[in-house]
Amino acid sequence: MTRDRQRVCLPEPVQGADFEYVRSIVKEHTAVALDASKVYLINARLLPVARAEGLDSVRALIHQLRGGPFSDLHTRSIEAIVTTETSFFRDFHPFEALRNEIIPRIIQDRRNGLRNLTIWSAGCSSGQEPYSVAILLRESFPELAGWTVRILASDVSKGMIDRTKSGIYSQIEINRGLPASYLVKYFHQQEGSWYLDDGIRNMVTVFQHNLAHAYQALPPIDILMMRNVLIYFDVETKRTVLQRARRQLRPGGFLMLGTAETTLNLDESFDRLRVGRAVLYQTGRKDPR
Ligand SMILES: C[S@@+](CC[C@H](N)C(=O)[O-])C[C@H]1O[C@@H](n2cnc3c(N)ncnc32)[C@H](O)[C@@H]1O
Repeated sequence: MTRDRQRVCLPEPVQGADFEYVRSIVKEHTAVALDASKVYLINARLLPVARAEGLDSVRALIHQLRGGPFSDLHTRSIEAIVTTETSFFRDFHPFEALRNEIIPRIIQDRRNGLRNLTIWSAGCSSGQEPYSVAILLRESFPELAGWTVRILASDVSKGMIDRTKSGIYSQIEINRGLPASYLVKYFHQQEGSWYLDDGIRNMVTVFQHNLAHAYQALPPIDILMMRNVLIYFDVETKRTVLQRARRQLRPGGFLMLGTAETTLNLDESFDRLRVGRAVLYQTGRKDPR
């Protein structure tokens, strides 16, 4: 194939005022910051939305978005751009830290008092993270049977919230990180998809929430899993989100971030804690709220 031919085949990147428009609606509705390096990503992710709408290009889609009031098409376009990559027991080591140290420590600390444990997966995508936590608790901590255990799961994306609530996964999603023994025990297959059993599904409370907004009526959190979410925000938003997270955590509570994320230079009041091969962040037991 000649160079000229290759050039003709490439989709035209989103540029100028079109790029600024997409950047502004994504930032306004999700706090996700897009820089100029993301033009090809925007193009690739909006093309299926344009096609589903019967439009022949991303440019035509953006012109339709710019020309009308905020609609379901805007929501679908924004949600298509935001990265929702996830998997069961993602990165493995953080779940080992929960199993071997963090949850046993909380159970030990509360053996004579408050028998209550709240874990929040914030930015849960399609639910693999909170359901991994639910399976871990069911498998490894029978002593929590008499406790009030809450697993909360939230995401800014309505599409991801619906997917999490459904508890339905493809074979490819199952193949990514779910041990075969848990598949047999907690899922059943129907028409090529895997359905999570209600016993695990009902352990998780799912709701839509934008981390850039204030929290409404959430209980104090013992363990906040906010993994691979901060990475998409600008520095100012990261600081605000971390400060709010710290206030929502119980004193001495634990924050879990993605492997490429840190509180360093953003919020110095978290203590960094290495547990096995995982890194967690702990609020001071008496830190300023
Ligand atoms: C890369 S996924 C990470 C999923 C999971 N936490 C993990 O680590 O596997 C990022 C998720 O954050 C969500 N997200 C992006 N901006 C958000 C915001 N402002 N508030 C809440 N969730 C957000 C996205 O919709 C997406 O589902």
